Amino acid sequence: MKDTLSKRFVEIYGKTPEVFAQAPGRVEFIGNHTDYNGGVVMGVAIDKIVMVALAKRSDKKFVFAKAKTGEKIEVSEIAPLDRSKNWVNYPLGVLKFLMEAGLKADFGFEMLDMSSLPAGAGLSSSAAIEMSSAMAFCKLYGFDADLKTMARAGRKSENLFVGMPCGILDQGVSAFGKKDALVFIDCMTEDFSNFPLSPDCKIWLFNSSKKHALVDGLYAERHEECMKASKILSGNGEAKLLRNFSLEDLESAKSSMDDVVYRRAKHVISENDRVLKTRDLLLKGDMEGVGKMLKASHDSSRYLFENSCEELDFLVEAACSQNGVYGARLSGGGFGGAIMALTDSSFGEKEASAICEAYEKKFGVKPAVITCSASDGAKAI
Ligand code: GLA
Repeated sequence: MKDTLSKRFVEIYGKTPEVFAQAPGRVEFIGNHTDYNGGVVMGVAIDKIVMVALAKRSDKKFVFAKAKTGEKIEVSEIAPLDRSKNWVNYPLGVLKFLMEAGLKADFGFEMLDMSSLPAGAGLSSSAAIEMSSAMAFCKLYGFDADLKTMARAGRKSENLFVGMPCGILDQGVSAFGKKDALVFIDCMTEDFSNFPLSPDCKIWLFNSSKKHALVDGLYAERHEECMKASKILSGNGEAKLLRNFSLEDLESAKSSMDDVVYRRAKHVISENDRVLKTRDLLLKGDMEGVGKMLKASHDSSRYLFENSCEELDFLVEAACSQNGVYGARLSGGGFGGAIMALTDSSFGEKEASAICEAYEKKFGVKPAVITCSASDGAKAI
């Protein structure tokens, strides 16, 4: 990929790049919509990546292009661009927030990106572009930032440049990924750690290819409902995120909130418990137990958080009825996209095809199947 990217760079910019970096996409393992509530979450960095290349310019302009189209976008001032050039906001925001952390961009650059991440599968290509850009910018400008600073810059870019009120899951996993390991994030303290995932376990993704038209709006709506719940639970005291409350706290405040807000909060609070239990079960090597947690997480998303859909529910049920599947759940924002299934090594193409055929029979389209292995996080190359 590096050679192809380098050649394409020469075609587009007429010069060779000086800096390369890459970052992986991610699968949300468990912890649905817990991150922006200060909760806990686990993810896996996968073996599909975004790679970026950069070359210095003698002036102060920043030029961005995608390898696919070759279309160039030139920026002289670092501020969010309008919707039609929206994809530039991901790396541009990262640059802005790394500068706030101390990076000095005293010259401009040309940048090109290339991806092996399947589009629209909910594998967070946006975090992969953010983290690969962060690595590349730090190298180009000689700025010594740690992974946490980079992940934070990526999240801020989403929140303030792109307008997506997400948490730090995607950027944290893309930055801190490790081969044969999960990334555990405490989003309150912003602590990132790795937990081994046996190489005998496999992660399979089944992409429903369905995307709710209002997915961004629905994500923001869920965010708002969670904030409403935490505000009610905080009472007159200091405003605290949902992470700080237990199911007992929620039950005692039930009469002061509407049912929708109550159910959103119940999902988030119980999901935090499931993540912690999953971590313990993983450490004990109890994969059957982990599988049960994954399925319980899906059911909670389905009935309480209501960010699933018929297609995802079908895929989860179909996956869970196959031999070799420990558990399955929707992964990521929801409202369409993909489910992940955790399997043992006996699960293979034959079992995956059975799931796809059942889905096709019902919905008339074959889901895309992606197998991934837990891989390393962002790095300059
Ligand atoms: C998206 C967001 C993440 C997280 C998940 C849901 O992937 O980008 O920050 O909120 O949804 O858990």
